[in-house]
Amino acid sequence: LSSFSSMAVIVSMALLLLLVKSSSAQLSTNLYPLLALSYFSTVKSGVQSAISAEKRMGASLLRLFFHDCFVDGCDGSILLDNTSNFTGEKDALPNKNSVRGFDVIDKIKKQVEKACPGVLGRRDSTTASESAANNNIPPPSSSLSNLISKFSAQGLSPKRHDCLSGAHTLGKARCISFRAHIYNDSDIDNSFAKTRRANCPSKSGSGDNNLAPLDFETDTEFDNYYYKNLIIKKGLLHSDQELFNGGSADSQVKSSC
Ligand code: HEM
Ligand SMILES: *[C@@H]1O[C@H](CO)[C@@H](O)[C@H](O)[C@H]1NC(C)=O
Ligand SMILES: *[C@@H]1O[C@H](CO)[C@@H](O)[C@H](O)[C@H]1NC(C)=O
Ligand SMILES: *[C@@H]1O[C@H](CO)[C@@H](O)[C@H](O)[C@H]1NC(C)=O
Repeated sequence: LSSFSSMAVIVSMALLLLLVKSSSAQLSTNLYPLLALSYFSTVKSGVQSAISAEKRMGASLLRLFFHDCFVDGCDGSILLDNTSNFTGEKDALPNKNSVRGFDVIDKIKKQVEKACPGVLGRRDSTTASESAANNNIPPPSSSLSNLISKFSAQGLSPKRHDCLSGAHTLGKARCISFRAHIYNDSDIDNSFAKTRRANCPSKSGSGDNNLAPLDFETDTEFDNYYYKNLIIKKGLLHSDQELFNGGSADSQVKSSC
């Protein structure tokens, strides 16, 4: 704050008042300096405290946004519970028993509302769609061409797909998400498959929720091991290894985005 002149502070306050007065129903996305400072510091400290309470939460929040954004844009639709008008996204196949972080989002929303009451941001969607979540978000059994087409449906190129997949340098997956890959696929390192089988029984229904890191090297560090692992056939999900399996994404994986 020391770099703000008092004039800038006064102007910002005036703009803030103007904004509050003239827009009782409308939230603004304009980031006036003071407001932006307050908004971002509130969000940032909320995220930081959630991650220091549990390291995996960074990964979980990132994935929550991905799943929100693939249904009608990044509009908070994933946060909505069922109403009489629609079935929400929380129980869709890619989300149920899997997406985490709703409590963190709720907590941060309350803190933002307190710090910047009713002024800044964007109103959440008023509708959601379970079927769009099921249709738009690719499952881990996807082939490379399925992945590319689901991303293309969101306006994302194959290169974007290759690079966004690097988010799997963070976080964990349940046995149910990688069982078929470690028992039935041939594009997997033998000793890696064996290690993963030890905590993920082949029988469907047993150990379904047992966790393994998506990046076996460093699952809380944002680095490029995701791509290095694919090159040595140690991708956890079938869909991960599809990026390096003799197809069109191989060269991108070698250059790690
Ligand atoms: C390319 C297609 C993708 C597929 C098929 C896919 C699939 C999955 C699956 C099956 C899991 C494990 C879920 C579970 O077992 O509960 C997972 C976890 C995760 N995904 Fe993806 N994903 C994809 C793309 C992305 C993208 C684009 C992002 C973000 C930019 C992302 C971020 C994550 C993160 C961070 C986790 C770990 C979450 C946690 O530990 O709570 N994924 N993904
Ligand atoms: C939402 O509705 C769906 C479909 O009717 C149902 O399967 C699900 O259990 C409901 N979720 C909750 C939390 O009520
Ligand atoms: C359902 O939609 C109607 C029409 O848009 C709206 O007036 C009503 O409040 C909605 N009901 C709920 C529970 O959101
Ligand atoms: C592996 O493939 C066989 C034959 O398709 C199938 O019966 C079995 O359920 C699969 N196993 C797993 C763990 O996916």
